[in-house]
Amino acid sequence: MSSEVSYPPGPRGLPVVGNTVDLSRDIFAFFEELRDDYGRVASYDVFGTDACMVAHPDAIQRVLLDDHEAFEKGEVLTRNLADAMGEGLFVTGGTQWQNQRTQVQPAFYRNRLNAYVPEMRATAEETVEEWRDGMVVDVNDRMTETTMDALGRTLFGVDVAENPVVSEASDAILARFDTSRFWSFLPDRLPTPTNRRYRRKLDELQAFVDELARQRRQQSPENRGDDLLSILVGFVEAGDLTRREFRDNMVTFLFAGHETTALGLTYTIHCLARHPDEQAALRAEVEAVCDGAVTAEDLPKLERLERAIDEALRLYPPVYMFFREATRNVELRGYTVPEGTTLVVPQWVVHRDPAWWDDPEAFRPERFSDSDHPEYAYFPFGGGPRHCIGMRFARMEMKTVLATILDNYAFRLVSDPNPDLIASTNLKPGEPIEIKLDE
Ligand code: HEM
Repeated sequence: MSSEVSYPPGPRGLPVVGNTVDLSRDIFAFFEELRDDYGRVASYDVFGTDACMVAHPDAIQRVLLDDHEAFEKGEVLTRNLADAMGEGLFVTGGTQWQNQRTQVQPAFYRNRLNAYVPEMRATAEETVEEWRDGMVVDVNDRMTETTMDALGRTLFGVDVAENPVVSEASDAILARFDTSRFWSFLPDRLPTPTNRRYRRKLDELQAFVDELARQRRQQSPENRGDDLLSILVGFVEAGDLTRREFRDNMVTFLFAGHETTALGLTYTIHCLARHPDEQAALRAEVEAVCDGAVTAEDLPKLERLERAIDEALRLYPPVYMFFREATRNVELRGYTVPEGTTLVVPQWVVHRDPAWWDDPEAFRPERFSDSDHPEYAYFPFGGGPRHCIGMRFARMEMKTVLATILDNYAFRLVSDPNPDLIASTNLKPGEPIEIKLDE
């Protein structure tokens, strides 16, 4: 056998547009076929630029953890998110990223998170109070409102319902990056209606977060509390964070934190609506563990609920893929990936790979009891130093909201059991997911 290493294999598509046409038709099938036909490290080309899919758990671990310093978020992402959050935690790299990660970390310490649970529960209770027996609920809509409210109240001390600027900006920003991550990456200077609205709403949102900071600064430090907003304002006052970094982090957390969690909740509810026995077992668990209202101490005891969430995030990972760019030549599973190559790391494909998961399409939460899959065959929150800083926050929120719903209602699915899914900024249902409530 030759010791020479080579470029990962892959299809070569039509001239000029490369594989872009195939990709835009069905992005999920495209990557699954790439895996089945060419292997778990394979190449393809988009708009004439070579890209590699990394869908083997060992190689994913190399990219995210072992050799993470050889990869960065990449030029396309950096350029496109520059206006909205270019100097925030999600986009920055190097020492700037390291400093910011250390600065905001205390907002996500376990004790701090535990203190958010009553607010999360209050938000969930308000949602459920509007529900009635026999009502049909559009799950994603309701969960989007709930997670936005919870995020505003816990991290920023703001009542989002009273400040439509946040949800309006959210819609405009998500619309700007809609369709899919590949083809929405057109320059945002083009004056399309979507881009004009995006620009206007982004300006309004930035003015709004500046005003929040101004109000916080007027409070004396001992009355400010220690939520994320106060932490960030404190660093700006100390000269350790620029105003631009402050703004971009506010926008980052508003966006990284709410749609993803809302989708996690939506897909878990969808799965439970399809599996009444599992739903009933979870209701029994909630009744046994919680005394009428879920508390931070109850959450670790809701083990079955945790597995149901894990399994829903396996089948429907809200972040279904993300990108990296190699900053030097790297070897992955015997292939050389040259410096500058864009890597795609696709949760969707790996989470449903029959090599690591028995009967991968089935909803079977108990598979998480023995966890015999390779570690990086499951990574809904990414991995390594850049893993999701909001992971515990999101898990606590999902458990709190689900426990509150299960405590009040049984529900069944009235929408399509296999809804179309859209490869948008996140993995979104292409049609409403609807449940009918039974008290
Ligand atoms: C179910 C819910 C969530 C999912 C599936 C999710 C998923 C992810 C993933 C996959 C990454 C890594 C992206 C990459 O490596 O390129 C990430 C990063 C991040 N997430 Fe989340 N996330 C969720 C909820 C949250 C929440 C609630 C917050 C904040 C309150 C948050 C804030 C962030 C931030 C700031 C980063 C960038 C971290 C860094 O680069 O240091 N996420 N998330």
